[in-house]
Amino acid sequence: MTLVSLAQATYAVAAVLFILSLAGLSRQETARRGNILGMVGMVLALAATVVLALDHSERPVLVTALLIAMVFAIGAGVGVWRARTVEMTQMPELIAMLHSFVGLAAVLVGFNSHLTEEADAVHQVEVFLGVLIGAVTFTGSIVAYLKLSAKMKSRPLTLPGRNLLNLGALIASALLLAWYLATGSIVPLVVMTVIALALGFHLVAAIGGGDMPVVVSMLNSYSGWAAAAAGLMLSNDLLIVTGALVGSSGAILSYLMCKAMNRSFISVILGGFGTEGGTSAAAGEQGEHREVKAPEVADMLARASRVIIVPGYGMAVAKAQYPVADMVASLRHRGIDVRFGVHPVAGRLPGHMNVLLAEAKVPYDIVLEMDEINDDFPDTDVVLVIGANDVVNPSAMEDPGSPLAGMPVLEVWNAHRCIVFKRSMATGYAGVQNPLFFRENSAMLFGDAKAQVEEILTALRVGEGAHA
Ligand code: TAP
Repeated sequence: MTLVSLAQATYAVAAVLFILSLAGLSRQETARRGNILGMVGMVLALAATVVLALDHSERPVLVTALLIAMVFAIGAGVGVWRARTVEMTQMPELIAMLHSFVGLAAVLVGFNSHLTEEADAVHQVEVFLGVLIGAVTFTGSIVAYLKLSAKMKSRPLTLPGRNLLNLGALIASALLLAWYLATGSIVPLVVMTVIALALGFHLVAAIGGGDMPVVVSMLNSYSGWAAAAAGLMLSNDLLIVTGALVGSSGAILSYLMCKAMNRSFISVILGGFGTEGGTSAAAGEQGEHREVKAPEVADMLARASRVIIVPGYGMAVAKAQYPVADMVASLRHRGIDVRFGVHPVAGRLPGHMNVLLAEAKVPYDIVLEMDEINDDFPDTDVVLVIGANDVVNPSAMEDPGSPLAGMPVLEVWNAHRCIVFKRSMATGYAGVQNPLFFRENSAMLFGDAKAQVEEILTALRVGEGAHA
């Protein structure tokens, strides 16, 4: 077996591992295994690529090996540093930044390919499309990063005739492709790159902060297609397969997110709206709300037989998952049935709540999805809504004029008692007031979610001591 065919065989194994990794990541119980399979696949792919690079090296092998080692050290160093320091709440912006690298890589591979290779028409189209998708992904991802990290205002940029501008950019690119095919000159490639960079900037700048997570997942899809295009240019089968996997899974994820938020995919892509994100003032209060204190909630819980916890973005902000897990363990120890109800878009990332709860070692079998638990609220004694707001807003079902109208929500108000943990009466992400707070059976527990849960835990332990 030659070195090249061995490397090709390794690529095939890595591709299968990537597919198994994606399958593993689709379920919480198998996610860890999925990650490990993906990592093994990546190590094999890198090893095979290095072997091929050394085999094809036109420089002395030692020089190539040194260059690769340097690139590895820089990449791995930055990667390890970012992965260790990033906060869970900063994950979307980190992902956006990483996508911009994939876009930039596709642009560079495209230009390298143009400058160093004799190209037939098919290869020219590959180069052109690779650079186009890469450039759009590059600037689009940078804008997404800047918006998510509040370095750029999240309000959508609405230029007059913005859809026509985008359409014009695409038509101009098609004409430049014809010029490129006819002449093979670098000029149309450069002009198209400038247009594509501007298009990427404009496409994402036109989208409001509220829709940004969908955009990040869409850019994830674009970055996959950019990588696949780079794979075509480099005749690298593994890059084509991996790029297509990322491209299609990103597209499916964007679609599922849009569905869960009751948004049309097209309207998100075309942009021009979306809330500014963050909470706004307690706009349009709807009556009287009641307040409770942590010891009262502890007492209520101690007397309950069925409890459901609905976590949201506030639990992530407060890092309350650890005391929540301890509280759950304490309640279950008393024989109380405690489960979690997780909305598909709770938090700011797909699977955000599941990751946090898994991190705090909450058993998987008590973490249920919205559809699995929604019918159980009428039989539930106490619901704890911990830092969630939009995902438990009844106006999504009851008020056709609400910006949330049509979004499926967790019907927590059907339980006997509902306690809402938050710091104020401010609105959630969508910027709309929540009538749940003013219901007869609801009460507010104000304060930082972590501090409040810790106080409940202390009260439960004191109660346990008193019983003993
Ligand atoms: P939100 O509706 O944003 O509500 C979060 C609540 O947490 C706020 O009401 C806030 O109230 C409270 N909070 C913040 N910090 C807190 C702290 N330290 N302690 C206690 N409470 C705190 O969150 P949600 O219910 O999870 O809904 C998610 C929203 O994000 C939806 O509108 C969804 O469409 C949107 N979104 C999600 C995704 C994904 S993929 N998950 C993607 C795009 C958009 P106070 O400020 O009063 O404390």
